[in-house]
Amino acid sequence: MQMKPDLAALVAAGGGRHRTATQHVEAALRDAILSGRLPGGTPLRQEELAQAFGVSRMPVREALRQLEAQALLDFVPHKGAVVTEISAADAADLYAIRMALEPACLERSIPHLQPEDLAAAAELLEEMDLNADPGRMGELNRRFHLVLYSRAGQPKLLALTENALSSFDRYLRFHLAAHGRAHLSQEEHRDMLEAARAGDIPRATRVLRRHLDTAAATIAAFFAARGTGAEPGGNS
Ligand code: NI
Repeated sequence: MQMKPDLAALVAAGGGRHRTATQHVEAALRDAILSGRLPGGTPLRQEELAQAFGVSRMPVREALRQLEAQALLDFVPHKGAVVTEISAADAADLYAIRMALEPACLERSIPHLQPEDLAAAAELLEEMDLNADPGRMGELNRRFHLVLYSRAGQPKLLALTENALSSFDRYLRFHLAAHGRAHLSQEEHRDMLEAARAGDIPRATRVLRRHLDTAAATIAAFFAARGTGAEPGGNS
């Protein structure tokens, strides 16, 4: 049995500070999802939202599409938009998998990296510096990691790793939607690329492990803050 979202409360909490109807609807729903007021699994029906917000269905559809790009909801066949199921336990599970697979890929790949791989990784970092869109950031982060692992020479290991990174994507995007780009740990990405360029495997894998530890800790902190009912935020 699905709990029916209290749309009137969401609309009231949304405030009137947004320029367009789409932005207004998107901001109200994003706040509600990130704070946990709209829990994972909650269906979001376009007609009901349009009615509650007093807008047409077009801006509602557009807002839902933008929230999907931020991994805050999924479009499920025959059900429509549903708030993404995420949990601290699932995030920790995925980090354990990444921690097991990625250093193994990186150490096998580094000796075989080509100048064009390093150039591609550097370009992806630059693009991340310039891009503020959480949907795009998740993809850029994934591609950056995969370029550095790409010469591991073990297609099954790489396929598993790519799969783990894709599953994890929603946490990264969720996290970016809550905290902004400052949390992407670009410093660690740069260190890892430098170490790879120098062929320094111990340093590169050390940086990667720290990168994953830091990310796991910030996601855990996000869930802990959510559990207490506090708004996600701050710049730690
Ligand atoms: Ni990363």
